[in-house]
Amino acid sequence: MQTIPCVKDPTVAPVFQRLFFIPGSLFFILLLAGCAADSPSILDPRGPAATSIAELWWLIFGLGTVIFLLVMVALGLALFRRRSSTASETGGSTRNDNRVILWAGIIGPAIVLIVIFALSVRTMAMLSSTTPGAEFVVHVTGHQWWWEVQYPNQAVETANEIHIPVGQPILVRLSTEDVIHNFWIPNLHGKMDMVPGQTNEFWIQADTAGEYWGECAEFCGIQHAKMRFVVVAEPLAEFTAWLDQQRAVPPAPVDALAQRGQQIFLGSACVYCHAVEGTNATGDLGPNLTHLASRRTLAAGVLLNTRGNLAGWLTGPQHIKPGNLMPPTELTGDELQALLAYLDTLE
Ligand code: CUA
Repeated sequence: MQTIPCVKDPTVAPVFQRLFFIPGSLFFILLLAGCAADSPSILDPRGPAATSIAELWWLIFGLGTVIFLLVMVALGLALFRRRSSTASETGGSTRNDNRVILWAGIIGPAIVLIVIFALSVRTMAMLSSTTPGAEFVVHVTGHQWWWEVQYPNQAVETANEIHIPVGQPILVRLSTEDVIHNFWIPNLHGKMDMVPGQTNEFWIQADTAGEYWGECAEFCGIQHAKMRFVVVAEPLAEFTAWLDQQRAVPPAPVDALAQRGQQIFLGSACVYCHAVEGTNATGDLGPNLTHLASRRTLAAGVLLNTRGNLAGWLTGPQHIKPGNLMPPTELTGDELQALLAYLDTLE
């Protein structure tokens, strides 16, 4: 009868190990490298909260690496000794085995776990310490599948884009309009749930200017993966200029095409879901469009905010993000061009 060789077969084991250990390790390294390339990483911290989380990660990674190496050395020694000492098996080795089990199997791991627990508690304490009297508060509300962003003290409302001044702590209040979402900016902080009927708070701070991607980190429905946002950290002067611009009511369009586009917009179903300050569009089911043209992305970080992408989104939102609440807009080519010209004036 033919048998299937398995790992326990002494002739197969070394071949198996060599076959799988080396490519396995290479694959793991490549996997890590792939993660690091071009996507936001907790290992690239740009603020105090993210820095303390990254430090904890490196500490645990270092500890894990040392333990892994120790275990590999012990494994190597065990294999080597098993082969060389086939004779002289005495009662002494049983006592040794018991000591190894006690120290390496119970006391050692317990010490390691206690150290990791203490380090984690220290990091959690650092993250929960708050600075009272926040000058800037951002209230972010999760929706399926976009982010409503409000600055209550400055009477500013936008969507899917959060501007913050560099070097200042910002109090972020998090709630949700429907299901549980999770607010995560890997470069600036850990994850925080947005729970129905509850407001969670934490602090973010960016120490260097830049654009940081954020995303929803809790499965919240079919378009969970397309629920992204961008955080723009900029010098205080630029930030306050942005606030002023967002607070301003956009001027009425002067161009004839844009004027026609405004009539199309205000005469369509758009106004039941979207608001534009200074007009009779006051819907609040979808993102506020008052300064749509000033935003970097469309559809919650899915598309760059270009004229072509906006045209695609208006005419086929269900192709780009199936299941979202936006219905397609039935327009002729001329009407679409007019609507795009109007939306382009909402800076
Ligand atoms: Cu919102 Cu996942």
